[in-house]
Amino acid sequence: MKGISRTELPGLRLFKRGKVRDVYDLGDSLLFVATDRVSVYDVVLPTPIPGKGAILTQMSNFWFEKTKSICENHLLETKWEKMPTQITAFPELKGRSAIVKKTAVFPVECVVRGYIAGSGWSDYKKTGEVCGIPLAAGLKESEKLAEPIFTPATKAETGHDENISFERACEIAGKPEMEALRELSIRIYTMAEAHAREHGVIIADTKFEFGMLNGKITLIDEVLTPDSSRFWPAEDYHTGGGQKSFDKQFVRDYAASTGWDKTPPGPNLPAEVVEQTRAKYELAFERITGRKFEE
Ligand SMILES: Nc1ncnc2c1ncn2[C@@H]1O[C@H](COP(=O)(O)OP(=O)(O)O)[C@@H](O)[C@H]1O
Ligand SMILES: [Mg+2]
Repeated sequence: MKGISRTELPGLRLFKRGKVRDVYDLGDSLLFVATDRVSVYDVVLPTPIPGKGAILTQMSNFWFEKTKSICENHLLETKWEKMPTQITAFPELKGRSAIVKKTAVFPVECVVRGYIAGSGWSDYKKTGEVCGIPLAAGLKESEKLAEPIFTPATKAETGHDENISFERACEIAGKPEMEALRELSIRIYTMAEAHAREHGVIIADTKFEFGMLNGKITLIDEVLTPDSSRFWPAEDYHTGGGQKSFDKQFVRDYAASTGWDKTPPGPNLPAEVVEQTRAKYELAFERITGRKFEE
């Protein structure tokens, strides 16, 4: 299987090509297509991970369903059979597409951390804080926090997202809005973290995106996937160091091992790295959703 790096859909108008998704404009709604592209350090690599887009789409759909009592979401149609023929004319989109509501996206990434890792750990070691939130002294790397924390980041159109304080996020997106987004983000994360942990996956942290539609805050984009979160296998979890992972860390580690300087173009991935990455995404899917992934 080759993997889909890029879609070209004659007759449909491109709305946006993100790092991973190709989004088409259907008028009031959007056709949201997850490709098999993988990005590390915000650079899309030349080698796709076959099936990744379908795994992410179906995992997001699982979470959209599970979180709908907490927050409205952007899904309009996920069933291939019910999509219009202008879409089903492209069979390569099956399993990796959804029709979603077009929303006005809040320009802040809503990050929740339940465990201390990654940039949160780096900041904590330097300052004892993460995004201006002071944490208990003496935490070990990967330790579970007493309470999940909300650590927003900018949504950079190009380049890297940057961690910001809650106050700065309020200046960007409005105080009542950010208070509502913080509450929703923490509620969703808390529910999802418990579900995943019972099924052998630790969700160390995650990033949500929200949009506004008809006065309603709406959960959009992808939700609680290995691309938007740090997923750790629960059986190997230990504090005081880094963890094995079900996410892109494996690709990041490979890319870094080539001596790549993290600027485009990124390195090609060897077949075994592609295979193992795909297997990690699939295992995370199976643990979390309780079913086998089918193409
Ligand atoms: N319901 C929605 N309405 C409007 N924009 C959306 C919606 N859901 C997701 N998006 C946007 O579509 C894009 C998804 O593509 P993606 O490849 O994830 O982009 P990025 O490189 O920014 O991560 C993101 O810019 C996201 O903010
Ligand atoms: Mg994205």
